[in-house]
Amino acid sequence: MRRLWTALSVGLFAVGGASLALTVYLWVGDWPQQSRELVDHLRSVARNTGAPPQPLLQNARERERVSLDGTWQAVIDPYARGELGGLAARALEPTSPSDLAEFSFANGLTLEVPGDWNTQDPRLVFYQGVVWYKRLFDWQPRVGERVFLHFGAANYRASIYLNGLLVGEHEGGFTPFNFDVSEGLHAGENLLVVMVDNRRGADDVPTPMTDWHNYGGLTREVSVLRVPEVFVRSWQIGLSADGSRIEGWVEPVGIEVGAAVELAVPELGIEESFAVGTDGRAVVSVEALPERWSPENPKLYDVELRAGGDRVRDRIGFRTIAVEGGEILLNGEPIFLRGISIHEERPLGGGRIHSEAQAATTLGWAQELGANFVRLAHYPHDEFMPRLADRMGLLVWEEIPVYWQIDFENPTTRLRAERQLGELIERDRNRASVILWSLANETPEGEARDAFLQALADLARAEDPTRLVTAALLTGTDALTGFLFWGYLPAVAGMDTTPWVFDVQDPLAEMVDVPALNEYFGWYYSGALAMLLPWSSHHMRRVMLDGMESIEIRTPLGKPLIVSEFGAGAKAGMHAPAGELAVYTEEYQALVYERQLAMLAKQPQLRGISPWILKDFRAPLRMYQGVQDYWNRKGLVSERGEKKLAFHVLRDRYIADWPH
Ligand code: GCU
Repeated sequence: MRRLWTALSVGLFAVGGASLALTVYLWVGDWPQQSRELVDHLRSVARNTGAPPQPLLQNARERERVSLDGTWQAVIDPYARGELGGLAARALEPTSPSDLAEFSFANGLTLEVPGDWNTQDPRLVFYQGVVWYKRLFDWQPRVGERVFLHFGAANYRASIYLNGLLVGEHEGGFTPFNFDVSEGLHAGENLLVVMVDNRRGADDVPTPMTDWHNYGGLTREVSVLRVPEVFVRSWQIGLSADGSRIEGWVEPVGIEVGAAVELAVPELGIEESFAVGTDGRAVVSVEALPERWSPENPKLYDVELRAGGDRVRDRIGFRTIAVEGGEILLNGEPIFLRGISIHEERPLGGGRIHSEAQAATTLGWAQELGANFVRLAHYPHDEFMPRLADRMGLLVWEEIPVYWQIDFENPTTRLRAERQLGELIERDRNRASVILWSLANETPEGEARDAFLQALADLARAEDPTRLVTAALLTGTDALTGFLFWGYLPAVAGMDTTPWVFDVQDPLAEMVDVPALNEYFGWYYSGALAMLLPWSSHHMRRVMLDGMESIEIRTPLGKPLIVSEFGAGAKAGMHAPAGELAVYTEEYQALVYERQLAMLAKQPQLRGISPWILKDFRAPLRMYQGVQDYWNRKGLVSERGEKKLAFHVLRDRYIADWPH
């Protein structure tokens, strides 16, 4: 008996000691190496597989789905210790007063999904770290189905735990992902816990340094999709380049090579079946003369795809897009892109767009401007946007956040960028409105960067040969020094040096179909130089504005050029006579737009513009208190929906068919 008691007490002491050690570790952080191994072991217990997502189910909103949107419990986890504390596995809830709960969802924060966390709790406005989400949901399984957990996006990393087990992880803040949970779900109540971490490292895409607010969380919808054992996972259906056929491919899951896949376009009398090839896809091609999709006539057709017992619908517009010499051809005709850049922020206030109504208001403002084109900067927006653009007749530029200084030497970083580009293309490959995939924004030149972007250009063309590839070039030091020393600065000193030549040299121009350029004549250069030179900023700005029309922008290779950013900041309601050249006044912003548009109208290679930007947006880099207050004020509309003078300057020209 005595020996038994001794053994028991030693055992209890050992367990107590280990849990004490673990508790101490959880609270005091790093410990000697051997206890790290203990912790890693515990982590591995909680995580069975950090599986990457399965291939994406297209058109998720069309699928039979159970929405998990709504109010979720949440815990802010500033030191990222929740996993060890059991939040993931057990989501410990105290059941009696003597239970010691420290890692628990009880009594706490709730967050609305979809939605960024920054605008839902004052502690989270600038928060960069981990937040745990939890919700319970009932499920009634059916025989012979596959079930997927689908997320529209989660910024930036997400770990998904279902009934205590790690289902998988995703990184990248703006693209959808799904996990097959057919085995993980059980009848009755299921526990879903998601860890979201919005921190980015120097090797992520993007890095922490961005001129937009790093909205974290489950920013887009979460749902459970049910599909039959055999289902249609993905497809690309479009108009052939010569306009005579509807062609593409359909990729079913769960059927063998040679099995039939059906394509139906009732309004065109198409009902054809095609055999699945050895690559798992059925190639589709059928003669057809559909009404062409265009901004003037955004015609969409109901398309149905069938395999086995599954049928899935989509609404697709048929059009062609190409570059020929210096022209962008839509349905064989040259087109000029009268656009505007857009960040994915709610039209009133800040925060990520998370409803179709908010997306519709935002694109409605673009249409009110007279735009036929929108640049969805600097990352993939919610799927609402390209689907609405399909219906509204807006052409779309979509982009991945390869933004500013990226770790171009790092193969993992490149994999991250390629994955995000692949996920974007997979989601939107059937959107007629989308004509441009953009690879990068203002990335500094260099060998590694060029190789990195060439790989992205190759991937985009391999994944989708039907669209154009673009990127916002960096003006490059040669262009800027030539412009400054042979044009602008001698003019500041009183010499007549017009025309001011801006000769863009960037190897990226060779990789893309449509080179794009961000320039800020009238805003950045004069102000910055005035701090270094003996002339006043007023004089520097005066010379720039008076001489701007003489600027000649030259890009290599005679390709069609888009000026993808120009603009100026203004706080809505701040006014001063235009002649005062008072920055941040609406009059100054309007004056910059007038001079920019006069100059751009004379650029022979220009085939589109997307001025920066539709609406003021949150940006932690913009700290000028009382004026910016962590908002980038280059919007034509304020965060309260007030249209500034410059909105009307641009609109007047667009509705008058500028630059013709
Ligand atoms: C840059 C960048 C934008 C930024 C803008 C600005 O060119 O592409 O992300 O917000 O200029 O300075 O306002």
